[in-house]
Amino acid sequence: MVDNSKRATFGGKLSAVLVSAGGAVGLGNIWRFPYVAGENGGGAFLVLYIVCAILIGLPIMLGEFSIGRQTKSNPVGAFRSLNKSWRYFGYNCIVTSFLILGFYSVVSGWTIEYTVHSVTGEITRHASAGEHAAFFSSFIENPWKPVVYTSIAMLLTHTVIALGVRKGIERCSKILMPVLLLMLAVLAVRSLTMPGGAEGVKFFLMPDFSKVTARTLLDAMGQAFFSLSIGLGTMVTYASYFNEKTNLRTTAVNVTVIDTLVAVLAGLVIFPAVFSAGIEPSAGSSLVFITLPGIFASMPLGMVWSSLFFLLLTVAALTSVISLHEVVTVYIAEEWHMSRKAATRLATLSVIAVGSLASLSLGVMKHWTIFGKTIFDALDYVTANIMLPLGGLMTAIFVGVVIDRRVLHDQLTNFGKLQCHQERTVRFLLRYVCPIMLALIFIDNLGLLKWI
Ligand code: PFF
Repeated sequence: MVDNSKRATFGGKLSAVLVSAGGAVGLGNIWRFPYVAGENGGGAFLVLYIVCAILIGLPIMLGEFSIGRQTKSNPVGAFRSLNKSWRYFGYNCIVTSFLILGFYSVVSGWTIEYTVHSVTGEITRHASAGEHAAFFSSFIENPWKPVVYTSIAMLLTHTVIALGVRKGIERCSKILMPVLLLMLAVLAVRSLTMPGGAEGVKFFLMPDFSKVTARTLLDAMGQAFFSLSIGLGTMVTYASYFNEKTNLRTTAVNVTVIDTLVAVLAGLVIFPAVFSAGIEPSAGSSLVFITLPGIFASMPLGMVWSSLFFLLLTVAALTSVISLHEVVTVYIAEEWHMSRKAATRLATLSVIAVGSLASLSLGVMKHWTIFGKTIFDALDYVTANIMLPLGGLMTAIFVGVVIDRRVLHDQLTNFGKLQCHQERTVRFLLRYVCPIMLALIFIDNLGLLKWI
């Protein structure tokens, strides 16, 4: 049994919001959301996204917060203490977090590398799109550089985690989240004032309901789910540090609003710049690591904007990496009875090992494949498409159906001290709406709904 009497807690309301928002806001908000939205009817997609965030994101986040604060334990301890046979879903959380770290740490390394090269002027020295593409692929295929940057990302994370819950995670989120919002706002103003930028805003936000199909809805559900970081225990873990006064409902609503705001602001940074440069918007990593550097190179003071943008991306990535690392660390410390320091060290070294393999799998180890995918792609595919939705589905059923109803009631009302008029709605969403929607995402991710 875990002794929770000496467990750390976050300071106050703001800390709970900023720390959880730090976990949720990540690369998914900055490069994935704007592009998926632009392709799927812009403003119409945003409306669907918000509906999905409310219908699946909020109830599951509240469910995770409830089991975390109720049990004050790591995900395995949390599931186990509420129902012994469900502890396996706690293990699913730990393994998923670890595997996501395996490739997310590599991409975080790229963001640091691009920040460094922006500051030195290397990025803005290349002129043509071809040069930027060549620079990116020669970097990710390099046998040692990305490994070094992955290790740097993990060592930075290590320092924060080793400092502890209050002095490390809380203090770091309280500084980095406002800095991130400020950088985004500055970049959005710069981008929106570029000539022709309005076209980009139109592409991104103009509602075009003719593009909305059943597939758009599935994409919106998948994006909401990934962006809010639910289904793998980060919110369970963070809530285990909430104090007894934290209002779980307002915290969850604030985190969802901040996460959505960051995604929208990111679109307002990216698309005006892309359209102003007269470039066709492209997808994912090529948009961020190839198209945008090309645009920065042609802008006055491009070096400054490029440095600011990649620093923003680094901050967004690192706050998510910190949340994932904490899930693994606290599990090792509590379940394997190790000191926090030793657990942090073990987690960091293991992630660097897997991250290095994932990184090398894009270059020298390209030919080592699992079901036809490189290690990097396999980690991405298995976690995002299978383990995450499965974790979310199980969390919804666990909180909505399996455990004692009083847990959700006590946590939403702070043991009767607050009024909660939405309890029945949250329970209904967890029991019926979330399982159906998550099952659809899951089946779709396996490629079984291609006809939609
Ligand atoms: N929410 C993160 C993002 O939007 O980039 C992605 C993510 C991070 C998902 C951590 C899950 C997670 F545990």
